[in-house]
Amino acid sequence: MTVDTLLYEGKAKKVYATDDAEVVKVSYKDDATAFNGVKRGQIAGKGAVNNQMSNLLFTYLEANGVNTHLVEQLSERETLVKKVQIVPIEVVVRNIAAGTFSKRLGVMEGVDLPHPIVEFYLKNDELGDPLITDDHALVLGLATSSELAALREQALTVNRLLQAKFAACQLILVDFKLEFGKQSDGAIVLADEISPDTCRLWDSETRKKLDKDRFRQDLGDVEDAYQEVFARLTAIS
Ligand code: C5P
Repeated sequence: MTVDTLLYEGKAKKVYATDDAEVVKVSYKDDATAFNGVKRGQIAGKGAVNNQMSNLLFTYLEANGVNTHLVEQLSERETLVKKVQIVPIEVVVRNIAAGTFSKRLGVMEGVDLPHPIVEFYLKNDELGDPLITDDHALVLGLATSSELAALREQALTVNRLLQAKFAACQLILVDFKLEFGKQSDGAIVLADEISPDTCRLWDSETRKKLDKDRFRQDLGDVEDAYQEVFARLTAIS
């Protein structure tokens, strides 16, 4: 399989063409960024953990009826995925107050939300990925109202499934971000990744942060936290 033409390089991944027009190869990097690229660094081994963990979780979600872009893992860092057009909406689900929710609304980190909430953000680095309403998404032509409803429903289904998976390895799923992609036939599937870069995960007993907040907040032991999450998931899978 010819996989040498770089199509796109993002903050955490490179995407290459393959000899199948419907499939691309994703290669995960160790580069880490936070606060929309303002903070930069490297997390040793992150690419390998995020790739394998994301594939493990996408396989689990597929088995439970969620359509994803996953085709086949090639190596520790590399995976074949369906070529999709990414929907320019980042979908965030929150179970516990943290991050920008706490900052924006003045709710202390760690407070349980009465029910999970779904937020939409415009995927646009120049604008700093602003929070948007359904009306914003509609007038900007980002999605139709039935697509927005489908994104919200899929996100809540993924939340339910991931909460159960993480609970089984003594992790609390605080919040996470999803991205979706449109296939050439118009079908919308779960894309991008699910990893400690895109989820807040706390140890169920100690509430120790085991995710990218260790990098964002200079808490140390970043590599160990990523490895710990992956080890716990593989131990139960
Ligand atoms: O920063 P904020 O509290 O809005 O993030 C909510 C969740 O979405 C966190 O788990 C964070 O890691 C994830 N996120 C992400 N990529 C972004 C923004 C947020 O993975 N661009």
